[in-house]
Amino acid sequence: MEYSYCGTTGLQLPKISLGLWHNFGFVDDYETAREMILFAFENGVTHFDLANNYGPPPGSAESNFGKILKENLSSHRDQMIISSKAGYYMWEGPYGDGGSRKYLMASINQSLKRTGLEYFDIFYSHRYDKNTPLEETMQALVDIVRQGKALYVGLSNYPPVQARIALNYLNERDVPCLIFQHKYSMFNRQPEDEILSITKEYGAGFIAFSPLAQGLLTDKYLHGIPNDSRAAIPNGFLRKEQVSPFLIEKVKQLNEIAGERGQTMAEMALAWALRDPRVTSLIVGTRNTTQLKYNINALQNLSFTKEELIKIDTILEGATL
Ligand SMILES: NC(=O)c1ccc[n+]([C@@H]2O[C@H](COP(=O)([O-])OP(=O)(O)OC[C@H]3O[C@@H](n4cnc5c(N)ncnc54)[C@H](OP(=O)(O)O)[C@@H]3O)[C@@H](O)[C@H]2O)c1
Repeated sequence: MEYSYCGTTGLQLPKISLGLWHNFGFVDDYETAREMILFAFENGVTHFDLANNYGPPPGSAESNFGKILKENLSSHRDQMIISSKAGYYMWEGPYGDGGSRKYLMASINQSLKRTGLEYFDIFYSHRYDKNTPLEETMQALVDIVRQGKALYVGLSNYPPVQARIALNYLNERDVPCLIFQHKYSMFNRQPEDEILSITKEYGAGFIAFSPLAQGLLTDKYLHGIPNDSRAAIPNGFLRKEQVSPFLIEKVKQLNEIAGERGQTMAEMALAWALRDPRVTSLIVGTRNTTQLKYNINALQNLSFTKEELIKIDTILEGATL
């Protein structure tokens, strides 16, 4: 595994991290989830990304992860970076969603209990909440660190204007933002507009989620929607109509370039997302160890020629998910 420093901080993250949004809930196969966590750790994937609401049911990915950790990896806690988040809907009533101090404080306590951890390495505000003063959310993050419940804080899905205000607030209180988490892939290049330069300016890292566009940037949908794919399963976040003929045509063309590079489509999509040195790590989601193995394999060829990048840019014109 290769590791990169998170911005100008002293913390290194593996270039490939594992996310537990799908495939780790009580509805999923526990043994497969356990195998993936162990395979990841044995292969240097030291970073595991959680959130309060991952499952389904919400919270169950944290519970399963805690159980796997306790039964298999408890002596390795200091070799792992474990993150969680609060920001999206988690429980009924006015205190289980958004960015209030009440929600963040209650949620991290619940997440610590479910995982059995003493602290998270990174705790994120999962989204910007326009109904809560930004200062309230940021102060909750500062206090979470001061209380020893997290070592570092991160921001996810913040628009550029609010991101700057938040980063300044955190800097002024000596709890700088470690990392920014945002969707980034060949089919979603929005962070290239501003977020990547903001993170660099503030010395924070950047970690991409859904770098395979939830599986679209693999060869799995080239001949229809397989029954066991995210677009077909009832709890999957990828909708069938998002697997559009327009995007699949793009994947077909990209897949040819991948073949010329001696890579699979997934490997090239991951290598491409890592081509910018401001990108610290990619959080992949996998349904089994085979997918994870292939994804780690992407690191075997991270360099692109100018011609390849131009061809890819041309193919990607108009393609967003
Ligand atoms: N901060 C946020 O708001 C936010 C939002 C979303 C996600 N995240 C984080 O990012 C993580 C990753 O997101 P994601 O699951 O959407 O990432 P992704 O890597 O883009 O998509 C994962 C899916 O792609 C397919 N896949 C992965 N590797 C493959 C391979 N080698 N060959 C073929 N198919 C492959 C699998 O789908 P099939 O099931 O179809 O096989 C897998 O479930 C999440 O777990 C979470 O930690 C954060």
